[in-house]
Amino acid sequence: MKELDFHTLAVQGTAPCDEKTGAVATPIYQTSTFSYFTADRGAALFAKEEEGYIYTRLSNPTNEKLEKNLALLEGAEAGLTLASGLAAINALALYHCSAGDHFLVQKELYGGTYELFTKHFPRLGIEITYLTEMTADAVRSNLRDNTKLIFMETPSNPLLHIVDIAAVAEIGDGAGVPVAIDNTFASPYLTQPIKLGATYAVHSATKYIGGHGDAIGGMLAGPAEAMDAIRASTYKDLGATTAPFNAFLFLRGLKTLPLRMDRHCANAQKVAEFLAGHEKALKVYYPGLPTHPGHELAERQMRLFGGMVGFEVAGFDDAKKLLDGLKLCVQAVSLGDVMTLIEHPASTTHHGYPEEELAEVGLTEGYIRISVGLEDPGDLINDLAAGLDRI
Ligand SMILES: Cc1ncc(COP(=O)(O)O)c(C=O)c1O
Repeated sequence: MKELDFHTLAVQGTAPCDEKTGAVATPIYQTSTFSYFTADRGAALFAKEEEGYIYTRLSNPTNEKLEKNLALLEGAEAGLTLASGLAAINALALYHCSAGDHFLVQKELYGGTYELFTKHFPRLGIEITYLTEMTADAVRSNLRDNTKLIFMETPSNPLLHIVDIAAVAEIGDGAGVPVAIDNTFASPYLTQPIKLGATYAVHSATKYIGGHGDAIGGMLAGPAEAMDAIRASTYKDLGATTAPFNAFLFLRGLKTLPLRMDRHCANAQKVAEFLAGHEKALKVYYPGLPTHPGHELAERQMRLFGGMVGFEVAGFDDAKKLLDGLKLCVQAVSLGDVMTLIEHPASTTHHGYPEEELAEVGLTEGYIRISVGLEDPGDLINDLAAGLDRI
């Protein structure tokens, strides 16, 4: 049979209904622990001589279904679901890196990820090199014998740089260093990093996977052997489990992911084009604009250009005038919600970056990030136009 289309896979997952009961929605196994019925079976489960559920921090049927469906959509062998995107990043990075190891990271990242790496990894004896330009050449020339992981985002948060996944993955592969892509901004509908050669796709499921701004979660997808090993170590030991109810919400979110992404992307293109023609928007960042430096790469690497748009006004004072005048776009961090969310990264999500680092990555005091929602694009544009008129 012809390979199934993404829309079909998103709706049906690995199986259209619960194999035991026929339930079309995956039941929420709202239980912390599972009886092993006999002492012998308990011992066999712990000794891994038998497969089965023990305790929800280790695995849970609702979470497991989500893991399988995400792996399917990412084209990965296996998945893991964790309590948040940062928990997923932490579990992955600490699985690979120990004291004395080296970790190669893009400098421009979600501020929380940057704070996790800068505050905690050095005190654990893990050395990090941050790359301002995440090009294949920069990666090649900064690899060391003790480099254990390469980590990057594309499109990046918040400046929407596009990184060439295949080119970086080739370097990582040649050196035997796993490459992890934070695929939160693209979602598996727009980019499948593993199919492009990366080892892992990483998600804040809080964003497009959930899609409705009502649950925090994170996911990993990658080789089955690695996922099993992570489950048995940093997944289990750091304790950042997804609540089964949240897994249920993410399972539901995945079903409509492609439909929502189509609309997010179409709306974002219209908003970006409007901003590009507005004199108060001094510079517009959107991979779907031919003027974006990553436009051609995005055309090759992404199905569509994403739902995130950035633009610059003259400074924080102008940004405040605009933001405080908006009626529809909601001032809040996070993204991928059905509702349009807008924020000023330098004072919020990226507040943890020292000023000189912000300057180095090119994030200015006038930069505004929009997660374009599913509202009518004309209404959004009118709202932004009214805000820009206040400058
Ligand atoms: C690109 C990216 N990765 C990871 C995270 C962290 O995800 P969470 O908030 O679910 O921990 C975020 C949060 O905004 C993000 O934007």
